[in-house]
Amino acid sequence: MPTQAMNDSPAVADPHVVTTTGDGVLRIEIRRPEKKNALTTGMYSAMTAALAFADRAPAVRVVFLHGQPGVFTSGNDLKDFLDDPALDDDHVAYRFVRTLAGTAKPIVAAVNGACVGVGATLLLHCDLVYAGQGATFALPFVNLGLCPEAGSSLLLPLAAGHARAAELLLLGEPFGAVRAASCGMVSDVLPDEAVLAHAEERARRLAAKPPAALRLTKALMRRGMHAQVQEAIAVESREFQQRLQSPEAKEAFAAFLEKRKPDYSRFG
Ligand code: COA
Repeated sequence: MPTQAMNDSPAVADPHVVTTTGDGVLRIEIRRPEKKNALTTGMYSAMTAALAFADRAPAVRVVFLHGQPGVFTSGNDLKDFLDDPALDDDHVAYRFVRTLAGTAKPIVAAVNGACVGVGATLLLHCDLVYAGQGATFALPFVNLGLCPEAGSSLLLPLAAGHARAAELLLLGEPFGAVRAASCGMVSDVLPDEAVLAHAEERARRLAAKPPAALRLTKALMRRGMHAQVQEAIAVESREFQQRLQSPEAKEAFAAFLEKRKPDYSRFG
């Protein structure tokens, strides 16, 4: 399919999410480098709209998601967690996760630099994931007084085995691309400078394949877990909403924004 502008386009815009289309690929670039690509409600809205557009536009065969050269995303904006917390299932952060988990077309992701929180858990819903050798992953939910989200409490143990998933989710410490690959979160690890081009080439390669067979293969691979994944997302979301309002979490967010260590000594 030649590179071309599409008649239709994602309806919701945000300056920090740049979408372009060509060669059957809808490219979603997260572009907020000054805040390490932290995700705001506006950015979730734009990405949700882009994914919905991808599924309804016949000319889109594949979604390609990436960040900036030195950062994929540092996860949810921690200021938003304080100012505009996601306290009901209709919040766009949860809608984004549900939409991502239900996207019918294959999703390819390229990860360089920091990949934290929902930045890492969203990869569990992508199909081909390429990471740079220097990429740094973290699932710091417990350390922030939160709990796993985006179906990760189900999908990560499935991908990595309980013992390895528990290290990542309970300790919440940073880990590298090789570890992410050994835990089933990443398809392949490449030199940092090669990741974007390699992932884009794979996206184009997928887009040139018979589209119905491609979609069907993804659907069959995800079919067995689809209902459980949506249920896990729903259960986690309810717990997450409670945790967001907990004094522990509020202290963790404030400490990050005030560039100090959190103090949990006054909590029981
Ligand atoms: N939410 C809001 N702002 C964030 C952010 C986030 N998730 N991640 C980074 N930022 C901001 C910082 O506050 C800082 O802003 P400032 O320049 O106005 O002070 C800027 O982005 C640069 O971040 P900094 O921490 O100085 O960069 P770094 O290279 O030293 O570290 C990270 C990068 C990603 C390791 C670190 O920023 C981090 O741990 N971020 C929080 C990740 C997180 O806990 N996410 C939520 C998961 S649920």
